[in-house]
Amino acid sequence: MKAQPVTVPAITARKNSGKKITALTAYDYSFAKLLDTTLIDILLVGDSLGMISQGHENTLSVTLEDVIYHTRSVRRGAHRALIVADMPFMSYQVSVEQAVTNAGRLIQQGRAAAIKLEGGARVANKVHAIVQAGIPVMGHVGLTPQSIHQFGGYKVQGKTFLDSKQVRQDAKDLQKAGAFSLVLEGIPQELATEITHDLKIPTIGIGAGSKCDGQILVIHDLIGLNPEFTPKFVKRYAELSDVIQNAVTEFIDEVNSEVFPGPEHTYNLKKVALKKVNYDR
Ligand code: KIV
Repeated sequence: MKAQPVTVPAITARKNSGKKITALTAYDYSFAKLLDTTLIDILLVGDSLGMISQGHENTLSVTLEDVIYHTRSVRRGAHRALIVADMPFMSYQVSVEQAVTNAGRLIQQGRAAAIKLEGGARVANKVHAIVQAGIPVMGHVGLTPQSIHQFGGYKVQGKTFLDSKQVRQDAKDLQKAGAFSLVLEGIPQELATEITHDLKIPTIGIGAGSKCDGQILVIHDLIGLNPEFTPKFVKRYAELSDVIQNAVTEFIDEVNSEVFPGPEHTYNLKKVALKKVNYDR
């Protein structure tokens, strides 16, 4: 039987259901197809693709066209998980009109089911307008990587009383604006727990402790394809860099020693045909 697609209402209904939401990033067809064979709930086409797929040092140079391109690839691979596309830097900050138009492109051209954008109170009017257009919005507060220059780097947010009050208020404003879920990134567990209690919509944590309604990680971090990136919040469940390096080294050795390709990988002429062919050697 074909698995039922995960929907936005199904994600919202997870709140207080006793079953956590699990989310991972995906950027291409092959990974999306593989991840969709598991019970993962959400595939986020994150603007982390700037670092993971494009080799940039941060997310700031990712364009809307980049996210559309990657979302289309992910959509071709995944038919069960909910596909959420990230709105990149400067694709929603300028005006409400710009935000709605670009969110629409991620749905229409990227074929995402929902969008995610960063920020709290200051983007609430955009979230409201996008939701009014019929597009589900996932919020994202705390350590929002598109604001790293304002933060002075990747620093845990909400550590002082005033900062924590602001993050808590941001979360409430996003819920009021109509967000269906909220990513809490890089904040103390105590604050994430409070916000999770405050809200009717589910929280999805990354570097926010275990009390959120769900967890999200960058897939390359989880499987050890980004081994030099070792922040505290990442757990590596596999060491695929080692697996790939060993496989490629073995391939190189076997090509040099003519072990590969072996007879089982080689096409041969039938004996009769072989006799008719005039080979020099
Ligand atoms: O871009 C991204 O990958 C993200 C998640 C890690 C939350 O925003």
